[in-house]
Amino acid sequence: MNNYKLVILSSGYGSNLQSIIDKLHLQDGIEVCVIVSDKASQSITRGLLANIPCLFLPKRKSQSREEYDKLLKALIIPFAPDLIVLAGFMRIFSPVFIRAFEGKIINIHPSLLPKYKGLNTHQRVIDAKDKMHGTTIHYVDETLDGGEIIAQKRIDVLPFDTAETLEQTIKSIEHTFYPEIIRKLCLKATLL
Ligand code: GRF
Repeated sequence: MNNYKLVILSSGYGSNLQSIIDKLHLQDGIEVCVIVSDKASQSITRGLLANIPCLFLPKRKSQSREEYDKLLKALIIPFAPDLIVLAGFMRIFSPVFIRAFEGKIINIHPSLLPKYKGLNTHQRVIDAKDKMHGTTIHYVDETLDGGEIIAQKRIDVLPFDTAETLEQTIKSIEHTFYPEIIRKLCLKATLL
């Protein structure tokens, strides 16, 4: 496999980021070349511990979304990523960013999209008494949790489930599912 460069954007706890580092980084020609965070977060610590360059780009109050995205774009371009992976990056992008990396940005969202875009997905599933829940990997466009769906994993919602148990179950699935799909996308791209 050829060299396949990932840029990861992650704002928070970074458990998905960690699973990507553990399962993909410097394996089969895949490299996480930089991690960018908009928050002073656990994600940066995880990246530094793995010897991966990390960039911290906080959004200033005076900045518009577009201004922030222009800076983010300028930071990422020199890395020439094959794929930009969002792993808990809590921002919606403006067209200036999406157009610069059209078809190269993916996200994982903890619901069976198009259901439950946005936050608090697990509680909303419990409130709606849904029997099924899951997680979705999708391409990112300018809309909130929109963009073409790449793959989904479903789980049954059990009678004793709470928002907390659903979050735990979904995250543990994501930690295998996200690296597996990223690996497939890398393989597909290098076979083209
Ligand atoms: C995950 O639930 C993921 O689906 C969503 O944000 C959360 C990130 O969690 N996009 P973590 O920071 O990877 O632990």
